[in-house]
Amino acid sequence: MTGTDPQRHPIVTESDVVRVRRVRQVVRALAVAAKLSLVDQTKMVTAASELARNTLVYGGGGEMMIDIVDNGRRHGVRAVFTDTGPGIPDLGLALTEGWTSGSGLGLGLTGSRRLVDEFTIDSSPGVGTTVRVVKWSR
Ligand SMILES: Nc1ncnc2c1ncn2[C@@H]1O[C@H](COP(=O)(O)OP(=O)(O)OP(=O)(O)O)[C@@H](O)[C@H]1O
Ligand SMILES: [Mg+2]
Repeated sequence: MTGTDPQRHPIVTESDVVRVRRVRQVVRALAVAAKLSLVDQTKMVTAASELARNTLVYGGGGEMMIDIVDNGRRHGVRAVFTDTGPGIPDLGLALTEGWTSGSGLGLGLTGSRRLVDEFTIDSSPGVGTTVRVVKWSR
């Protein structure tokens, strides 16, 4: 298997149950196809659920692009969450465990980062936020 074409999944307002189930199903399916272990599948699904929730709650909605990537040795699942919301004024603060601007627990970003192999975040105030995560097979 080599990489796959990216799939685009809108993250929009709908019932929490429906949105979470959809994101989890899509990520799980690609994680299985990339031959991630059961534990790693679940880590990736959990990270993606948190990021999707941020995209909706703080970003006002957006999308997830997801594909299987191949570095010549391993397969991985890559998910990129993009919104055109208000952006994050202070990334250092947002990446501090327990810090929330709202009424969350402030654990979504730090938790996601810990669960994946690659984590990058780009955000500009007034432009939006993009978070990219990759989980590799071992
Ligand atoms: N897509 C985004 N757009 C704008 N701000 C964001 C976005 N994602 C995260 N943030 C900011 O970063 C903060 C930390 O996010 P994180 O997911 O870690 O915690 P939380 O969402 O506040 O709480 P939890 O995820 O534990 O319920 C958020 O409170 C918010 O201010
Ligand atoms: Mg969150």
